Formats: sequence, structure tokens, C-alpha cells
Amino acid sequence: MFNLRKLPFDPASNAIVSSDTCSYHYGKHHQAYVTNLNNLVKGTEFEKAGLYEILMKSSGGIFNNAAQVYNHDFYWDCIAKKSDMSAEFKARLEKDIPNFKEEFLKAATTLFGSGWAWLVYNPSADKLEIVQTSNAATPPTTGLVPLLVVDVWEHAYYIDHKNARPAYLEKFYENINWDFVSVAYEWALKEGLGSVKFYINDVHPACCGSSCGCH
Ligand code: FE2
Repeated sequence: MFNLRKLPFDPASNAIVSSDTCSYHYGKHHQAYVTNLNNLVKGTEFEKAGLYEILMKSSGGIFNNAAQVYNHDFYWDCIAKKSDMSAEFKARLEKDIPNFKEEFLKAATTLFGSGWAWLVYNPSADKLEIVQTSNAATPPTTGLVPLLVVDVWEHAYYIDHKNARPAYLEKFYENINWDFVSVAYEWALKEGLGSVKFYINDVHPACCGSSCGCH
């Protein structure tokens, strides 16, 4: 059984999202993905599987809910606090994507409908890239390692900004948790996709099989 992760910040004092948005986005939407996933895996081959395995092998409703659990887990870390890039990551970003702010915000603004804009590390090309995913789709399934994400589903900004997605995105960009992104980059270089698995196992520790309350 999966649990809703704890928010890595105080919802009363986040610079990007209001406590009202948190109570719906985290307390209702994110929680619903966790609840749906727990219900959907019952009696399937994924009943005892870890979230990473489900993410990489499932499809349909199980995939959609598993991916939305992971996408939101990662999003909350990206906005947990405003912080700075490491020197190593900053140099790499400037080299690979010199107009990063402009390109990232363009990807997030122009994404049609519901979805996510990501900065990823592509291990096979050894390159940082910006990608968009629709609905629940998530980069690890195509071999890409997430470093930064912004949720552009309307539920992410409608309470605070109504339909003004660009206003939400400006606020997001000014308050990114670059420290988290820099560490994700460091692990992505060392472990590739394995770093995604480590992250997920850290947020959703594997079931111990007997005394953890999962059964
Ligand atoms: Fe969301």
C-alpha cells in the first residue's frame, strides 16, 4: 500500500503556492492518485510491486495514477524552498541550454491542455533537455531522468491565479528549489535512471512484507 508523501514544506509559507492550493492540490488531487493506485493494483501483478516498477511496466489507469503520484512527489520537492544552483550544475545548464528560462517557460506556457514541463538529463545523449509531457506521462518511461518539473494542470494554479498560467509560471521560476535540482543532476550523472528508482524508494520505502502496516 502506498501512502501520500509528506509535503516537504509548510503550506502556510510557500512562495509559489497558497495553503488553499495545497489543501486541494496536495490534500485532494495528490491523495486521490494514491488512493486510486492502491485500489487499482489490488488483485493484479502489481499488488506487491514498488512504485518504480509500476511506473515502468504498467499501462492504463494503473500507470496514470502511479505516474501522477510520482510526478507530484517530485513537483513538491522542486518548489519546497527557494535555493541556489550548484556551480557544477549551473555551468552545465548554461552550456547545454543557454536560454533556459525563456525556453522552459515557453514549454510550460505552450503545453496544450493538462501536463508537465520538465528539465531532464538524457543519459544516452549526455545532455540536458526540456520536454513536455501530457496528462500523466512521465520522462523515466522514455529513459530520461527528471531534474525539475512544473505542474501545468489547471488544478496547480487556478485557485491562486485563475486562468493566468504565465503569472503562476513567473512565480514558480523565481522560487525554484535549485538545490534539489542540482542534487538530482549529480545523481543522474552517477546513476542514470537508477537515480529515479533511488528517489522513489526513498519517498515510498518498499513494503517490509509483514510488520509495516501494509498488509
Ligand atoms: Fe497536479
